Amino acid sequence: MRSANAVSPLLRSLSRPHGFEPLRVEGRLPESLRGTLFRAGPGLFERFGTRIPHAFEADGAVTAVRFDGRGAWGASRIVESAGYREEEQAGRFLYTSAASWFDRMRVTRRGLSKTTGNTSTFLWRDRLFALMESGLLQEMDPATLETLAATDLGVVSSAFSAHPHRVASLRTTFNFGVRYGQRMSIDVYALPDDGVPSKLGTVEAPWHSMVHDFMATERHLILFVGPVKLNLLRAMLGLGDVTQLFQWKPELGARLIVVPLDAIDSPRTFELDPFWTWHFANAFEDAEGPCVDLCRYPEFSLEEIGELESNGPLPLLTRVKLDLKSGKAHEATLCDIPCDFPQVHPRVHGARYGTLFAQTERRGQDRVIPGVTRIDLERGASSEWTPPAGHLPSEPVLVPRGEAQDDAFVLDLVYDSTTDHSYVAVLDGQHLDGGPLATVHFEQAIPVTFHGCFAAAGDEPA
Ligand SMILES: [Fe+2]
Repeated sequence: MRSANAVSPLLRSLSRPHGFEPLRVEGRLPESLRGTLFRAGPGLFERFGTRIPHAFEADGAVTAVRFDGRGAWGASRIVESAGYREEEQAGRFLYTSAASWFDRMRVTRRGLSKTTGNTSTFLWRDRLFALMESGLLQEMDPATLETLAATDLGVVSSAFSAHPHRVASLRTTFNFGVRYGQRMSIDVYALPDDGVPSKLGTVEAPWHSMVHDFMATERHLILFVGPVKLNLLRAMLGLGDVTQLFQWKPELGARLIVVPLDAIDSPRTFELDPFWTWHFANAFEDAEGPCVDLCRYPEFSLEEIGELESNGPLPLLTRVKLDLKSGKAHEATLCDIPCDFPQVHPRVHGARYGTLFAQTERRGQDRVIPGVTRIDLERGASSEWTPPAGHLPSEPVLVPRGEAQDDAFVLDLVYDSTTDHSYVAVLDGQHLDGGPLATVHFEQAIPVTFHGCFAAAGDEPA
């Protein structure tokens, strides 16, 4: 058993970065599973003899597994951003709270930041990007996972969040980016499937906060500002790490800001009881206004991230109906299995839906029981894969096979603490409880990853 102060095995640096090489396969890979899974997370926890204070400040790693119907090849590389290379050249941290106060102030004054790409991967057109909450898009070469240049796509002011969302019916991906000034401004962007990216406008937030995810429907963008306040003075003075900059202030309550796509300058703000969410499952338009489904935490915590087991607050899948006529919000719990990292079939992104997949965490009498679960909202039924004891799953990534919302392969990067290595479980979304069809094994542990995506063969970036 690890001591209380031991470092979680998921918060260790990637020990052997490498390009694509054959991976050991157990079971039988489906022949129709062809394409590449990409995932991103923090990859370097120590540099220059210093451990970074929090995973959110680490340089990222992108991990990929390519399937061709017969075998699998894996790669995992550090995001070697311009800031990372600048630090390598200097022989010390220049960015984040791991840097000296002098260096930190120097980059802050010059408005510079490091595009660590430590949170998610994003495919757009023929390009792969590693994303983080507070930086530009860090382009990566999907064929080799080598780091290319960061980009603003010609429109991004300063940040492009790690949670872009595509609305299938609009054939457009939306995203936001936060700017901190006298007030917190949220810039919103549209990336049409065919056409050029554009900035739709800017929404002013009620206070300086952390904004992680949002939702988009056919008619609205829905932004969440929780009762977490950024200590702007500390941030400006370069004092403290990420855990010391944000404070839980339940007395503020929470806000959902509904932004009409055809009237960005006329947002409607809904006040709710205090809660926190990292991730939304989906959103759709109802008769009275948008409905948003999110993983609702009773409070905010940064302590549990990357830990094998947590005693932190549990998230429950919750629907918030936003009535545009009455201005009232109504909340209802949809499922009593704690879950986060929800995913839905791409066909129903931004539309009415009935099925989602998520990473779940049941608390048994004496241990946490992690799983990957399909939750059928209409039937109230679910199907779950519970990996062996000591195996920790992550966010499920869907590879659609057909039109039905559960007709997908589910790819899940799992850390096996009993052997200290990571593998991808290939599951059938319609029969999760049957266990993996195949497992694909790295020879090493991959540090915690947060989010990923799948490029189907043929759609893969060249
Ligand atoms: Fe996230």
